[in-house]
Amino acid sequence: MEEALRAAERQLRAAGVPSPQVDAELLAAHLLGVSRGRLRALALIGAPVPEGFQALVDERARRVPLQHLTGVAYFRRIELSVGPGVFVPRPETETVAQLVIDRALGRAAPRIVDLGTGSGAIAAAVADEVPGAEVYAVELSDLALAWAGPNLARFGVHLVQGDLATALPECDGTFDVVVSNPPYIPAEAVPQEPEVAEHDPRMALYGGGADGMELPRAAAESAARLLRPGGYFVMEHAEVQAPWVAAVLERAGVWTEVTTHQDLGGRDRATSAVLTAEPVLPDTPREASR
Ligand SMILES: C[S@@+](CC[C@H](N)C(=O)[O-])C[C@H]1O[C@@H](n2cnc3c(N)ncnc32)[C@H](O)[C@@H]1O
Repeated sequence: MEEALRAAERQLRAAGVPSPQVDAELLAAHLLGVSRGRLRALALIGAPVPEGFQALVDERARRVPLQHLTGVAYFRRIELSVGPGVFVPRPETETVAQLVIDRALGRAAPRIVDLGTGSGAIAAAVADEVPGAEVYAVELSDLALAWAGPNLARFGVHLVQGDLATALPECDGTFDVVVSNPPYIPAEAVPQEPEVAEHDPRMALYGGGADGMELPRAAAESAARLLRPGGYFVMEHAEVQAPWVAAVLERAGVWTEVTTHQDLGGRDRATSAVLTAEPVLPDTPREASR
């Protein structure tokens, strides 16, 4: 097996896969149903190459995402089922989930909603880590819902099919936290990595408009509607969008404590704000700024 692993690593490196050794080992471990650590031990004692290994390596060399081949994505403490038709959750989004968890912990039965839940990553992690939380998740895509359903059912999350711009009107003014990792890529900014460009659903990537800000703006407007006064909103976005998101929130006239947050690489990748306690009347500056 050792030689097959090294050959796979060389093949994946030549194909431009960013972590060829790890991916080769994870594919073999997946086929054997063991951890990566156990796989290395098996390789050392000369265990045979698992059947189907070369076929999976060939697919990975064609830049099919590792998570589509193993069917699993890891997010904080949980495992999510993923595959074609759903956005693979990213490590930087774990930081966004942390902001939600920090805000919700210690509250009695906090109500939290995740707009554009995809695989259900944020909603599931929050339900897992915040005892007593009542968590909702909104998703528009049929395909994403098919993955999110089983992922969220075991955490008791209420999954709702709908548009994040209009969803859950019956819950207006009731949530303590609204979180979103909406589509936000500008129309012209086609991602470089084949795993993203060819395998993440378009609907999960492009935010609408030349600046990609249509869906982020809609998420912010929905958050203002869904939160109770004093409620907390946090949204992931591209680094370049940090000042734009802050400006959208400042201009709306209903938010305080607008704060930009960095991911683990120090990049400005999320913004949070607190809904003011003052009721907003029609024809206030919020309306005028649209
Ligand atoms: C960037 S992905 C994020 C998925 C997940 N929250 C995560 O962090 O891994 C954005 C998600 O929003 C969904 N989406 C796109 N437009 C939507 C809309 N108008 N209403 C609700 N969900 C939408 C996409 O299908 C996709 O699952």
